[in-house]
Amino acid sequence: MRLPLPAAGSPWPELKARMLGLASGDVRWRDGKTAVYVFNAGPEVEQVQKEAYALFMSENGLGPAAFPSLKRMEEEVVGFGLSLLQAPEGAAGAITSGGTDSITMAVKAARDYARKAKKVAGPLNLVLPRSAHPAFDKACALMEIEVRRTPLVDYLADPAAMAAAADAATVMIAGSAPNFPYGLIDPIAALSDLALDRDLWLHVDACVGGYIAPFVRMNGVDLPPFDFELPGVRSMSADLHKYGYCAKGASTVFFRSAELQAFMVFDFRDWPGGRMVTPTLAGTRPGGAISAAWAVMNFLGVEGYRAKQALVTEARARIEAGVTALGFSVLGAPRLGIVAFTRPDVDCVALWSKLRERGWFTGVTTEPKSLHLMLSPIHAEVAQTYLADLAWALGAVGGAPGEEARYA
Ligand SMILES: Cc1ncc(COP(=O)(O)O)c(C=O)c1O
Repeated sequence: MRLPLPAAGSPWPELKARMLGLASGDVRWRDGKTAVYVFNAGPEVEQVQKEAYALFMSENGLGPAAFPSLKRMEEEVVGFGLSLLQAPEGAAGAITSGGTDSITMAVKAARDYARKAKKVAGPLNLVLPRSAHPAFDKACALMEIEVRRTPLVDYLADPAAMAAAADAATVMIAGSAPNFPYGLIDPIAALSDLALDRDLWLHVDACVGGYIAPFVRMNGVDLPPFDFELPGVRSMSADLHKYGYCAKGASTVFFRSAELQAFMVFDFRDWPGGRMVTPTLAGTRPGGAISAAWAVMNFLGVEGYRAKQALVTEARARIEAGVTALGFSVLGAPRLGIVAFTRPDVDCVALWSKLRERGWFTGVTTEPKSLHLMLSPIHAEVAQTYLADLAWALGAVGGAPGEEARYA
């Protein structure tokens, strides 16, 4: 649609009012009624994100020599991530624009490693469990790599099926910690053994879990090993703009060694503009995303994250108990912030639509049809309201609420 640019400019207060008017139709995420897309850690964190973003909004992470401030902040954020994910000495990483960027760059590094270090010629492939995020498929589409998705067992990656699918042209195998559709951590230890046995590049997609799982573990929950503690893990993605509660446009990609990370970097000089080295997919890198990440991480610290993540897991436990009382079954045994639950006698997609009438915007999982929530700290405050509204929606779409449902 073509739209003529206004001939004359408008005053900022007027534009601001118009923008806020446009937002009136958006989901009410500040009330906690959204459990997808937004990670709401409360107004204090939001203020830090905004002010820190604005401070470096015009600066460009593409120029570390011009902006040593951003270089320093990126190094520190990457350092925090590497230490939280138990990376060995010599590990390296970078801030990217998001999970898709991190995954794409990890695939690019693994692809170049296969070509240059392992001298693999001809068509390449990547082996994934069915639950892995489509960001891998996008990366493979860009790089003309065949994707081999293997079936799940109990909603988890099946290492035996992945072993059977991998061959000499496999550039990467991947598991999730956790996967998005079910919120479950794949058996990464078994994938690590497979990777070591067969000399395969194992990537752990911790886009969702990277900045929640370490703190949930510190809070006393027994989580399976999923990070660089496992020697077969060569790269990881972990999103700052998800459970790191940083401003959007920020993720991290990590490599077991600087030598492996070197396969990610694009270094080009055959044009008249001089040498151009880009560590990630982006050219210009928004300074605000880096500075906001640095500020939020330092604002929260370990104590702050532990407290926020405790609220997330508390909300999840209350919702699990409540939906079970309403006759749903939770898929698998989630330990972090995502939960999916189903009731075979009820159309969960119809329930999802009904809940929208009460202002809820959440997710759905399709195999099997389930309701899906990606919870934030705010949900500890609204879990009972959600359960009451779910009981109401259940009555409205035909499934009777279970005997013990007393939320309404
Ligand atoms: C497990 C997982 N990996 C990767 C991504 C992609 O992240 P982004 O949307 O930041 O590109 C997501 C997004 O939800 C995800 O859940």
